[in-house]
Amino acid sequence: MGLNIGVVGATGAVGRKMLETLAERKIQVDSLRCFASERTAGQLIDWKGRQIIIELLTPETMKESFDYLLFSAGGSVSEKYAAIAQEAGNIIIDNSSQWRMTEGIPLVVPEVNPHTLKGYRGIVANPNCSTIQMVVALAPLHRVFGIKRIVVATYQAVSGSGHKAIVELEKQLQDPEALPQVYPKRIAGNCLPHIDVFNENGFTKEELKMVYETQKILEDDTIEVNATAVRVPVFYSHSESITVTFHEEPDLEKLRELLVQAPGVMVMDDLSNLVYPTPLFTAGKDDTCVGRIRKDLFDPKTVSLWVVADNLRKGAATNAVQILEKMEEMKAV
Ligand code: A2P
Repeated sequence: MGLNIGVVGATGAVGRKMLETLAERKIQVDSLRCFASERTAGQLIDWKGRQIIIELLTPETMKESFDYLLFSAGGSVSEKYAAIAQEAGNIIIDNSSQWRMTEGIPLVVPEVNPHTLKGYRGIVANPNCSTIQMVVALAPLHRVFGIKRIVVATYQAVSGSGHKAIVELEKQLQDPEALPQVYPKRIAGNCLPHIDVFNENGFTKEELKMVYETQKILEDDTIEVNATAVRVPVFYSHSESITVTFHEEPDLEKLRELLVQAPGVMVMDDLSNLVYPTPLFTAGKDDTCVGRIRKDLFDPKTVSLWVVADNLRKGAATNAVQILEKMEEMKAV
């Protein structure tokens, strides 16, 4: 028997990728329902040759029975409707930041902490896109060498701000006079060291998500994280420059081998042939690609990496669908 799945925010940048990912993978879907706001309710979406009508999201629809509900319609929608769906006994995989740090709610990257899903029903949180790709690459290294401190700078694609931001960059690339609407300043030809709101400590909310979500997923709140999150004029895939200091001095060959063996990681590091990951390469793929692996010149316990992944796929939709698959796999055992 196949699954009965609902996608909330099905018309958004991540929601569309969720539908695409569900169609590509081996999950047997009997019923797929799509929910959005009154803006698009009543329109049709094509999914695997089926025409699916977009339904208006209401409290009543969330009280119905689903095997899984995938949410990506923003924090306030999740706050209200995921809670209603959970109360009705449904499993929700939520892409917003609403529930990520709530105690008792698993924050899951299936390659890293699948054990937190065991026997669980209710809301499962999908981590922030920048956190996901960072922990996919760093978790296998943490298990062996122990991470003390991470210094990371991100180069984040506009698709992370939703469909409107993709349209904004397209417009600005055509028209140098086009005014910004989604971002506070022009994004075309620019870099904005400003993602989400500023906190009183000088960091942005996005940067703090990378701190606390990393500690929760790696189950170690002694890990120090210093993040600078930057929006760049790239459509798809986030890049990260990560410098990590370990407790144990790592052997670089062993570290490289751990990354080669790590699930979900593709090592692309051959400088003589100019092999290193870029956003154009990773867009549309599910792997987290790692290159530029090198030791610090002054501290033998510190290593730098360049980590790139598709923010809408591994950073959002793919990770959510992999959580669903993992829960199904665990049910079957
Ligand atoms: P809609 O397209 O009907 O506005 P993005 O992150 O790309 O901006 O997409 C946001 C998604 O969340 C869209 O599918 C959008 O639907 C949906 N959404 C936003 N607000 C609501 C709401 N109040 N109720 C249901 N869906 C919503």
